[in-house]
Amino acid sequence: MTALPDNLILLSTITAAALATIGLFFLVVTRISLILQTNSASADPDTAHIYWIYKSPFFIRLADRMFVVSSILLGQYNKLVGTVVKRLNPSLKGKRILQISCAFGNVSEKIAESCARQDAEEFVLTDIMQSEVDNAQRKLKKFGKLCTFLKQDATNLDFEDQSFDYVVVFFLPHELPLDKKYKLIEESNRVVKPGGKVVFGEFHKPRSKILEMLGRVYFYIFEPYATEMWDDFDLADAFEEKTGNAYSFKKDTFLFDNFQILTAKRLA
Ligand SMILES: C[S@@+](CC[C@H](N)C(=O)[O-])C[C@H]1O[C@@H](n2cnc3c(N)ncnc32)[C@H](O)[C@@H]1O
Repeated sequence: MTALPDNLILLSTITAAALATIGLFFLVVTRISLILQTNSASADPDTAHIYWIYKSPFFIRLADRMFVVSSILLGQYNKLVGTVVKRLNPSLKGKRILQISCAFGNVSEKIAESCARQDAEEFVLTDIMQSEVDNAQRKLKKFGKLCTFLKQDATNLDFEDQSFDYVVVFFLPHELPLDKKYKLIEESNRVVKPGGKVVFGEFHKPRSKILEMLGRVYFYIFEPYATEMWDDFDLADAFEEKTGNAYSFKKDTFLFDNFQILTAKRLA
């Protein structure tokens, strides 16, 4: 048997160590933070489900990079964001748009660009963490008065009934415990106007068994509330359950059904 060159062994060791460090970092700021918070008597029940990575301004700055979100979404980020923006139609002119949870990447920026181009009335961005609201505000400064930034809980929004034409929820439900997933649906339904739309970007059960198995392992390690999206909770079914037949749905799926954009249009 021929021995591997020393350089190759060194390179492999450094790569393995780097990947292990990144994995360990994400494990601590996601799953381990959840375990510690949900078992702590002093944890706030409204925010105990939120990973540390969304709570600390330092972690937010570290992780809010396109290559991080792109890797988590397996290279589909731009396609997903593009589809969300496309579904905000027919026109944003004079419309009020709400984004429920505004963390990483450029989805808020893309929506804001579309709002500015089409002369929307207002784009309201919310998140339960003030640190995320501040981060979004810093990133979207250039849009001036078009954008409003508010700290709000998605399961108990402080807005009037039927006050938004479009509501965008991008990769939030999979991070909520089941009861909060349903409350999010109720609140989205409450604040959207008749004829308006709620547009979700989310994980979706893949059609391949191998991808499903790999996904389950990933979710088990890092995102324990996410497999509920495959087993116990379907966005369109939850809308129907909570609202009767008040919505029509359009579902786009991506990358062997791993991801979905669900557009729920309120009929009345
Ligand atoms: C995966 S990120 C969502 C991605 C985000 N929508 C974006 O535009 O990139 C999760 C975010 O949801 C927020 N969050 C979690 N629970 C929430 C709740 N109950 N209400 C509002 N925001 C919440 C977290 O603070 C975090 O910023």
